[in-house]
Amino acid sequence: MSGFACADCGATAAKWVGRCPECGAWNSYAEVRQSPRRRGEPRAPRAIPLTEVGDQAFERLPTGLSDFDRVLGGGLVAGSVVLIGGEPGIGKSTLLLQAARSMAAAGRRVLYVTGEESARQVRLRAGRLGSIEPRLLLLPETEVERAVEEAVALQPEAVVVDSVQSMASEGASSGPGTVSQVRQTALLFQRYAKEREVPVILIGHVTKDGSLAGPKSLEHLVDAVVAFEGDLARGRRVLRATKNRFGPVDEVALYEMTGAGLSEISDPSGALLSERRAGEPGSAVCASLEGTRPLLVEIQALVGPPIAGSPRRAAVGLDAQRLAMILAVLEARAGGGFGAREIFASCAGGFEVREPAVDLALAAALLSSHRQKPLPADALFFGEIGLLGEVRSVPDAAARLREAAAYGFRRVYVPRGDASVAAGFPDITAVPVGDVRELSTIP
Ligand code: TYD
Ligand code: MG
Repeated sequence: MSGFACADCGATAAKWVGRCPECGAWNSYAEVRQSPRRRGEPRAPRAIPLTEVGDQAFERLPTGLSDFDRVLGGGLVAGSVVLIGGEPGIGKSTLLLQAARSMAAAGRRVLYVTGEESARQVRLRAGRLGSIEPRLLLLPETEVERAVEEAVALQPEAVVVDSVQSMASEGASSGPGTVSQVRQTALLFQRYAKEREVPVILIGHVTKDGSLAGPKSLEHLVDAVVAFEGDLARGRRVLRATKNRFGPVDEVALYEMTGAGLSEISDPSGALLSERRAGEPGSAVCASLEGTRPLLVEIQALVGPPIAGSPRRAAVGLDAQRLAMILAVLEARAGGGFGAREIFASCAGGFEVREPAVDLALAAALLSSHRQKPLPADALFFGEIGLLGEVRSVPDAAARLREAAAYGFRRVYVPRGDASVAAGFPDITAVPVGDVRELSTIP
């Protein structure tokens, strides 16, 4: 069996094409061969009753970075393969070198395969990150079979491959970074991980549009996919599990890039709010939930004067579709007047909020900017807005209220359905909101 696949986006086709119909890349198609199925004697059935399958918990190896462990669901699972994706320069090598270093410091032998940087480059970086550990073994190698062989011989307790795009199979017709080579690398390490019960972390580069180029085609092959994102210029980073066979998804960890590597942000809400200018029109604070963790974020909106032609609508760190929908709902149900105005909305501080609970804060920020009337400094908002203007309850209102109370917010606008939860918070005056129209009564 054979076919062709785009090295950029992973799209497949039966025949070679000069330009990828999916992503538009030129000359990106390469042949992918699938090894023929082994034929042989019919094998005895191997299926067993579910009741006879062992149910002991998976063994976990802590990485020594507690937030990274939390994102993984409690550490690396023996025999599992984790893919860490992120833009070049975001700090993937730094994060994994820190993790490898601290596992080694805890007495474990760790193999770090470096296909991109020389051993000396890695050594120089390691010097910034803490003590140099003799149990951290460095292997400059770009041939995947040799890397796996070395791992088998060295018997490490964890393996890091930096990066999956730099590795290729010996004698391969296509070079490193193509879909077939990226897949081959993942498959060989997958098999190694399962057979030797060693956790393997694969680093994968992601293109600017956010897709795991090449690695996209790996997502179903690996046990967990962790995205490393953030604003390159600001130093803040978010680590987020987007797939995890051994733990929750959407659990996040926040880091800051410093001169000595990545450091965990222990008080993310405080960090996010530290630069807030309360008392300005267009600013509303929301208690959002990142995984199981409540996080206060500032939602900003800027409603400009009406212009001729088609006005711009832009969202940064927020879902643009969601912004369009909320504007339509406000227009239809709450007086509106946004029509020909340019509108910008953002989640301040370089973070992204993807959950609908941010709707109410976004609507409040838009109305506040439009009316040039600041919201009360101690007010906080959460709730999902429906197309009929109704405000719907959100998951885990209690965790959001707890975070709001801890940071001194006293007036919390909550969905009517969550109002009873607020009764448990004596420091907070909850204002139940059933419909977006009620936002216009904010003093
Ligand atoms: P790197 O881990 O090489 O990114 P990736 O592997 O994702 O491509 O690190 C990227 C940036 O981080 C690099 O521009 C230098 C910076 N950096 C620091 O600011 N402090 C540090 O301690 C280290 C090691 C790197
Ligand atoms: Mg790197």
